[in-house]
Amino acid sequence: MNLLSMRVLRKTNEADGICSFELIAESGEELPAFTAGAHLDVQIPGPENFVRQYSLANSPADRKRYLIGVLLDASGRGGSRSMHERVNEGDLLRVSPPKNHFPLVPDTRSALILAGGIGVTPLLAMAEELHRNHVSFDFHYAARSVARMAFRERLEKSPYRERVHFYLDDQSSGQPLNLTTILSTPDPGVHLYICGPRGFLDAAIGVAHASGWSEAQIHFEAFSNQVQEAGDAFDLRLARSERIIRVGSNEPVIHALSRNGIEVPTSCEQGVCGTCLTRVISGIPDHRDMYLTQQERERNDQFLPCCSRSRSSILVVDL
Ligand code: FES
Repeated sequence: MNLLSMRVLRKTNEADGICSFELIAESGEELPAFTAGAHLDVQIPGPENFVRQYSLANSPADRKRYLIGVLLDASGRGGSRSMHERVNEGDLLRVSPPKNHFPLVPDTRSALILAGGIGVTPLLAMAEELHRNHVSFDFHYAARSVARMAFRERLEKSPYRERVHFYLDDQSSGQPLNLTTILSTPDPGVHLYICGPRGFLDAAIGVAHASGWSEAQIHFEAFSNQVQEAGDAFDLRLARSERIIRVGSNEPVIHALSRNGIEVPTSCEQGVCGTCLTRVISGIPDHRDMYLTQQERERNDQFLPCCSRSRSSILVVDL
């Protein structure tokens, strides 16, 4: 893939632990177009060669810059820390062209947007696009506290500000988000767009299902996925080479493969980006990702070996 060389034009503290990076082409040229909900794979400077996905938060109509927001994850493996500590204005970054796993449905006539914390970033681009296309929407944005609410001022000054509603877990300065109230009346003409951390997503999707929203109306993207690695040991049979690899009880599948000299391309290593998607020939995967839809999981014909495991004692994969 042809990577883009981008210069950090501006680095801004948007909230506690959240920085935004405004990127322009090193050449100064127009950038590849993107659609709302898209992200970049960013190669993060440093010896670890981290690649991380960051959603684009600016308007897709803006062809001169990309804007990303990065939450410092103190318990993470170091990608966000490197972005915060090593990357500064004027630096060059190598990034992929935009990719989109979380697009707006083309015929969206009305939308309900639910943002949890840093999950607001792709939804900002969606709101810009919906507004530009005269599509009605409501934007519900929840964060832990005022200090941790990034991009609030931008939303308060936006031309669609009367459609934006803010919620805070810290009740001394605001009201918490009440999903049951917001999702109480499913409307077949409305699409739901949800992004946030795993707990927020699980809660929002659970309430949407319980309230009668259909699968086709619910669109979501995980900001991050806390991967549970523990599980029973199992055998992974590689159909192309007929090899059998034992995956230990606390061992990620990609590590077991790598230990045996087989490298599967990975990026997020959290079951979010889909880079490691692998075809399953037989057996029942134990899906632990946030990438596949419920229908895709139920087909049991593919899985994400960076985070998922096996429910059956043998899993046969197309490797
Ligand atoms: Fe991202 Fe597996 S590497 S889903």
